[in-house]
Amino acid sequence: MNILSIETSCDETGIAIISVTESDATYVTNVLSNELISQAELHAQYGGVFPSLAKQEHAKALTPLLRLALQHASMFTTKNFSDPLPTEKLETLLAREPELHTELLQLLSGIEKPPIDAVAVTHGPGLEPALWVGINCAKALSIVWNIPIVPINHMEGHMYAALATALSPREYHIPKHITPAVALLISGGHTEFVSFTTLGAYTVIGKTRDDAAGECFDKCARLLGLSYPGGPEIARLAREAREEQLPQLYTLPRPMMTEHTCDLSFSGLKTAVLRLTQTLTQIDPLSETDKKIIAREIEDAIADVLVSKTKRALFETNAHTFIVSGGVSANTTIVNRLRTLIDTEFGYVQLLVSPRTLATDNALMIAFAAIPLALTGQFTQIADIQAHGNLAYS
Ligand code: KG4
Ligand code: ZN
Repeated sequence: MNILSIETSCDETGIAIISVTESDATYVTNVLSNELISQAELHAQYGGVFPSLAKQEHAKALTPLLRLALQHASMFTTKNFSDPLPTEKLETLLAREPELHTELLQLLSGIEKPPIDAVAVTHGPGLEPALWVGINCAKALSIVWNIPIVPINHMEGHMYAALATALSPREYHIPKHITPAVALLISGGHTEFVSFTTLGAYTVIGKTRDDAAGECFDKCARLLGLSYPGGPEIARLAREAREEQLPQLYTLPRPMMTEHTCDLSFSGLKTAVLRLTQTLTQIDPLSETDKKIIAREIEDAIADVLVSKTKRALFETNAHTFIVSGGVSANTTIVNRLRTLIDTEFGYVQLLVSPRTLATDNALMIAFAAIPLALTGQFTQIADIQAHGNLAYS
């Protein structure tokens, strides 16, 4: 079966195409294409993601990405003559996406139907205007190519990014079954512990009460005068502080670290960084050395909290698999700290970390998450698919 997936929940536009077969225990996946356009640089001037700009950029990016994805998958065949499209239906569907409308219909009217059996699309959580662009594009493909749609939860996509084992850059194996598991999903919009014994049936056992870990990285980076997205910037400065063995001059709080719950909180850390930078800049602007020292302390504080809460989550659930995924799992210090915890205190636990290339948003993880549903024919009617900004697990 061939699946085309679309991701537009935040500031990355992604389209991937996979072909999948199954054995008793595994989904065997070949990546035929995996295309991504990041808007991060555009949003940097606003210090975060600006929803209407995100929507507009997704709409501009989707048609060229679709063309590329089909070309890379060797599924792009131009027609000798164009068939008429069901224009009326498509006009209504794409009325709110003028940037997408003309280009997409032009592309679709000029190519043969590719050998794609289903389209998967992120329907939440995320920015609703951004989600709608991807959803409407998926609906248009579904209508024109007469194929069904699988709506996917973005966070479940992150989870699948860690479940997939890369045998080569093009071949991934995904287990069908898993021992009782806990997933730590750490992204720009979410930070949560999810417990499950069966893929598809999830229970959130702890989550942030305010900011997500990635959001905390981004906000603290802004206070240090670093660009968006802040996580990689803070990680870079923290690494330099370690390499230069700079002294630890400041101590930041580890909010809720010792409380008897798997819930987390990061807004106090951001406020402490705000106070610290306000105090330090009363005399002089922040020096590069100060920025490095503070960046390392921010990274250490977030890592300490995540390690401590992971320990609690693993004890509480008695899980035998621990999954780490989401944009913040691109942070080497955090992942190494979690790995050390598992090695030293939970030797019986299997650790699955998403490959760095799939840690931040991408469409491949959405295709992976769609596999079990698509293979068992669990599709959703076009009219029932909507964007859900705060989508929870079903
Ligand atoms: O999963 P993701 O791409 O998007 C959401 O679903 O939110 O996560 C983006 C977040 C941003 O907050 C970004 O700063 C953070 O992941 N991030 C990092 C690193 N790379 C990305 N945080 C810490 N260290 C990194 N190396
Ligand atoms: Zn994400």
